[in-house]
Amino acid sequence: MCGIVGYAGSAYAQDIILDGLKRLEYRGYDSAGMAVLDGDRLQVRKRAGKLARLVESLTGNSLPGSLGVGHTRWATHGEPNETNAHPHLSADGRIAVVHNGIVENASQLRHSLEAEGIVFRSGTDTEVLAHLIARHYAGNLPEAVARCMREAEGAMAICVVMQGQGGLMVGARRGSPLIVGLGDGEMFIASDVPTILSRTRRVIYLEEGDICTLRRDRCDILDAAGAPVERLVVEVTFDSAAAEKEGYPHFMLKEIHQQPSVVSHQILTYAGDRGGHISLPGLIPLYERMESLNRIVIVACGTAWHAGIVGKYLIERFARVPVEVEMASEFRYGDRVLDDRTLVLLITQSGETADTVEAMRMAKRSARCTLAIVNVEGSTIAREADAALFTHAGPEVGVASTKGYTSQLSALALFALDLAGKRNVLCEEELCVWLDRLRAIPDMMERCISRRDAVRNCARKPVYRDALHAMFIGRGFGYASALEGALKLKEISYIHVEGYAAGEMKHGPIALVTDALPVICIATRDAVHSKMLSNMQEIKARGGQIIGIVSDGDTAGAELCNDVFFVPECPAPFSPLLAAIPLQLFAYYVADALGRDVDQPRNLAKSVTVE
Ligand code: M6R
Repeated sequence: MCGIVGYAGSAYAQDIILDGLKRLEYRGYDSAGMAVLDGDRLQVRKRAGKLARLVESLTGNSLPGSLGVGHTRWATHGEPNETNAHPHLSADGRIAVVHNGIVENASQLRHSLEAEGIVFRSGTDTEVLAHLIARHYAGNLPEAVARCMREAEGAMAICVVMQGQGGLMVGARRGSPLIVGLGDGEMFIASDVPTILSRTRRVIYLEEGDICTLRRDRCDILDAAGAPVERLVVEVTFDSAAAEKEGYPHFMLKEIHQQPSVVSHQILTYAGDRGGHISLPGLIPLYERMESLNRIVIVACGTAWHAGIVGKYLIERFARVPVEVEMASEFRYGDRVLDDRTLVLLITQSGETADTVEAMRMAKRSARCTLAIVNVEGSTIAREADAALFTHAGPEVGVASTKGYTSQLSALALFALDLAGKRNVLCEEELCVWLDRLRAIPDMMERCISRRDAVRNCARKPVYRDALHAMFIGRGFGYASALEGALKLKEISYIHVEGYAAGEMKHGPIALVTDALPVICIATRDAVHSKMLSNMQEIKARGGQIIGIVSDGDTAGAELCNDVFFVPECPAPFSPLLAAIPLQLFAYYVADALGRDVDQPRNLAKSVTVE
């Protein structure tokens, strides 16, 4: 989950690397560093903390040169201090390495290198790679990198520069993403495409095991077997300007506001503005197999896993296919029983989450059919799954997923309805009715956003803002919303929060209810509404502070609450799309009132590319 960028050209490498690191900071922000070669002089600068500290250290004291590598770190091995920041150097100081991933056999390799007399400077696994490359170097840097990659175990992407190589940079990937950007007289290596989009739109997605050797005017690639290979050059069409704040104080707030248009655009793309026809072209490779489908296993992490719970309820409700929802980190190490009629459905915003990637590969190895609901085109999962349904949410920068989540919900609704039609569970007229209900949702989301001031005023009340603990509860579709609301608040405010199925309260959690416990109840009108009202009565009777997410006009529900966020009334299967908005806004305003770093919360990174 670190970010890598490398440059070989004739411009000032430091500025290009800093620009790339700014765009990569979402992958980790514990420390940042770079190594730049000026002729044959290799200079390294690194700082603990955010990129701004590295920028500060370079102001008036810059690193000249037109070849270099940079890194932004999310610490795995070794604390996030300056010594452990990348790049790491070989013992003679001639080789500099930046790395994303984990060297799983680092401690064995370290012992064997120490036995040869190498003195380690850092506590990282990455330093092992620098010494290994030096150990294997016999006049050919790509060959030394290849041998190092064979010896080091685990998923990783690296970028290497070395003194005395005449403007050459080497990149290698296995299990972690790495792309090459082809410029005009300049070449780039990066962890993702937006990093280099301001300089070039021509990219190569390196494949598993590839080793690339870049000079300013040349790119050579060896495949996993060491044979020279030509990889497809892709012309990227998406826009990097979409990843700017555009006047909002935080990316998260901007991304919350984008949701109605993201969902509306997605529905228009896949279902048009009227009628009962859904067209999901990405699913065509699966159509034949989908006829015999009798089970779906949804696999995802974090917020995407919560979307998966909504997906289960949607698919079972509309298409009558049994669905299980698994966390990727459990699924991939389990021994699941999957047969030829099981579809493995992966949900992921980034398409790079390590556990979800490996779950997909595991399913593919046993010849199971895989479908990805994914946002980032060109990501590992988008490219490797048998079929992909894109959510078209645009770049999501805030670590807390917002539009990534709701665009997964609308894509799942479309998928479930499409499947229902294909399996003749719903006829075209019924599909038309349900699609019209879905088409009405973006306007309702807009109305929820327009009520943000009420959420902000509530979030600033000391009883909520200063709470040490909080609980989110709901039933049915509201249960998934409760889990997601809890994760949002917890990850950006650092308040200890639990999400629970409301029906479970009596089996233990109700013991926590006191007048110091805010309980956020998702109580929109649906088949289990009266049961939710009973839960709320029980909490109120014990003094709990209730915030209700309640349908417009529901006075009975509102009367049970200390504070209320009203949402428009809509069919239960689409209610998580509305409930998400006040829940996200509540988390945002609490965290902001507490002075938290909303877009880059501590210990987290946007893309979890390590296990
Ligand atoms: O990119 P993915 O959707 O695979 O990411 C999954 C989770 O890491 C992600 O949803 C995470 O839980 C977010 N920080 C939640 O806001």
